[in-house]
Amino acid sequence: MNDPEAPIALDLDDLQEIARPLLETSAFDYFAGGSGTESTLRDNVDAWRRIRLRPRVFRDVTSVDLSTTVMGTTVSMPVLLAPVAYHGMAHEHAEIATASAAALADTIMVVSTLANVALEDIATATPGGSKWFQLYVHVDRELTRSLVQRAESSGYEAIVITVDTPKLGQRRRDERNRFALPPNLRIANIAGRPTAADPSEIANYASSAFASVTLEDIEWLRSITSLPIAIKGVLRPDDAQACLAVGAQAVIVSNHGGRQLDGAVATADVLAEVSDAVGDAGEVLVDGGIRSGTDVVRALALGARAVLIGRPQVWGLAIDGAAGVRTVLETLRTETTLAFQLAGARTNAEITSDLIWAPSSR
Ligand SMILES: Cc1cc2nc3c(=O)[nH]c(=O)nc-3n(C[C@H](O)[C@H](O)[C@H](O)COP(=O)(O)O)c2cc1C
Repeated sequence: MNDPEAPIALDLDDLQEIARPLLETSAFDYFAGGSGTESTLRDNVDAWRRIRLRPRVFRDVTSVDLSTTVMGTTVSMPVLLAPVAYHGMAHEHAEIATASAAALADTIMVVSTLANVALEDIATATPGGSKWFQLYVHVDRELTRSLVQRAESSGYEAIVITVDTPKLGQRRRDERNRFALPPNLRIANIAGRPTAADPSEIANYASSAFASVTLEDIEWLRSITSLPIAIKGVLRPDDAQACLAVGAQAVIVSNHGGRQLDGAVATADVLAEVSDAVGDAGEVLVDGGIRSGTDVVRALALGARAVLIGRPQVWGLAIDGAAGVRTVLETLRTETTLAFQLAGARTNAEITSDLIWAPSSR
């Protein structure tokens, strides 16, 4: 018998089309789009689905524990919210809605530098939830320093430094739409920065204000904060090792959701080599195209400690605010629990590399 109270089965793949009519075209395209021909955007999703698993049997998987720690922060499941700019374009409650959903789900929201609500206000509104701050390193070092200090004094538990944006990728959809922040929204963390009064400045903001990050910048940031640091936007073993050598605790394997170098490899395809290179020297996280519990299992089996989701949180937010984001997270929790059980694993530690099937050379 169907339980009328049971949540409606939901496939995260469907969310984008449900959200589309709820958003202005330029906002939808900003959230959905990638760079160039969008080949990396598409491959991010496809690459996970190419990976086949070898489930175990003869395990009692009646009860499963998805909880883990990520850079010292305890989470109820290995699924975090990736930093995404401009939540105010998806819902009037903006980042406050997203943060409250993350807090209820007992997972981490990574708050973007480009949030529409100031980082202090997000922290005050959702005191129970763990938050990390995503830093765009600015050419202006004092601005950069103040962002880090503000995050630290507002209770953020880690800094995520995004390093794959020396320039913004070519976003053809945004160019076509002459994308600009709507008049009621602003980049709340950065006073005096572009507002809708000057949309052309917004389009160019990233390219002019963001630094082309070097390892010296990371060393400097390491010296000004005691928070753990994750470096986001790494796709190569040598870069991952360099991050750890300058004091980062984690790397996030990411191609920015296919929004930077079009033609960059899908994150699923490089995760194992980056994890192998990092070994026990740090933690490896991954994002890009994660859309199901099976994808979560694939990522953990390839060496990730946790995954982050980008666009699905935005679609949930657009559809039903905080409740919509919560539904996305709970759907992934349900799917991940089932995928653990069907793979023969009870804990994150039991998701090991032998679950990955590799075609034999015979
Ligand atoms: C609309 C949008 C805005 C984003 N804004 C940021 C940002 O401000 N900072 C950042 O580090 N990454 C940003 N990202 C990248 C995400 O953190 C993440 O790497 C990516 O969305 C993961 O892929 P997925 O959307 O397929 O899950 C953004 C991604 C999207 C789709």
